[in-house]
Amino acid sequence: MDAPAVLIIGAGGYLGGPIWKELLHQKSHFSRVAILADESKVDKFSEAKASGVEIIVGSFTDPASFKGFNTVLSLLGNHAMKYQPAIIDACIKAGVTDFYPSEYGSDISQGDYLTNRYFRDKHVTRQHLRSTVTLIPSFNYTLIMVGGFVEFALMPFFGTDTENKTFTFYGPSEKAEPLTAVADVARYVVESISLPKSPTQEREFRVPGGLYKWGDFIDEVEKVQGVKYTREFLPRQEALDKARECEGKGDVDGELLFSLKAIMGDPEAQGVPQPWDNAKFGFEPERLGKTLERIFAGRK
Ligand SMILES: NC(=O)c1ccc[n+]([C@@H]2O[C@H](COP(=O)([O-])OP(=O)(O)OC[C@H]3O[C@@H](n4cnc5c(N)ncnc54)[C@H](OP(=O)(O)O)[C@@H]3O)[C@@H](O)[C@H]2O)c1
Repeated sequence: MDAPAVLIIGAGGYLGGPIWKELLHQKSHFSRVAILADESKVDKFSEAKASGVEIIVGSFTDPASFKGFNTVLSLLGNHAMKYQPAIIDACIKAGVTDFYPSEYGSDISQGDYLTNRYFRDKHVTRQHLRSTVTLIPSFNYTLIMVGGFVEFALMPFFGTDTENKTFTFYGPSEKAEPLTAVADVARYVVESISLPKSPTQEREFRVPGGLYKWGDFIDEVEKVQGVKYTREFLPRQEALDKARECEGKGDVDGELLFSLKAIMGDPEAQGVPQPWDNAKFGFEPERLGKTLERIFAGRK
């Protein structure tokens, strides 16, 4: 098999940098490493270009943009995920054989993840992929499930305010969340490209770095930062009410945020149920304490 030619879409977001850097780090496994950029956004990728990433200028719904690539990694953000079915169709017309939809979070195939608003466009994409593989025998897709990013768990989005030393959570402190450092997310994605394909054309890798109760997570943050946090554990229903309120106002970002907080606080919801697939990869994920030390050392 020829070395994969990899094209990233949505590379200018949070996950883009770690992914293209890891692809370059493992460049000997790939014939091409490229980013697809809209003409108006090319400047965003000057660092990637200077580092050796090819920049392809074009639209992500035009098959011409994907010609010459067999592997496409979608890193599109919440507002662009709804375009993925059209993007997948364009990829197939161009001869792409392997597609990674923008996932990199919870296992949404189970429990309340099936109906939670936050994951709606990810489900639409999964559904399109499932029907596409029945029609196109040469087409494969891969789902990477890591739980939350440790870096995001340190943001107000997830409830942590590292400036004001507060933690606000809509659920009990014993609720556990699978968490993975972003650098390890990138390693799982990039290493997976070279792993064997599945006869079903569908691959799923559940690869969190570890499972942590939120109370223990904040204990660890306090230890590394050397400070105490004010913790607030609120009823989960408040997050559900806020999500509904935002929906009524047409505030999509607010609706998504509180829908996510509501499922994170649900004691019955498991972000990434076992068994996990970490042993299929050639590295050990970084321990939480080490990740936190690295992140806070980088902020000094
Ligand atoms: N598990 C976790 O804790 C966690 C945390 C963060 C993200 N994620 C997942 O990682 C993936 C990427 O997230 P992200 O935070 O990196 O995304 P992001 O920064 O919000 O967006 C990524 C890219 O999507 C494109 N994009 C966004 N809005 C667009 C629009 N309206 N029209 C066209 N393009 C648009 C842009 O591409 P260009 O760069 O080409 O302009 C943008 O840079 C998602 O699946 C997300 O759910 C998971």
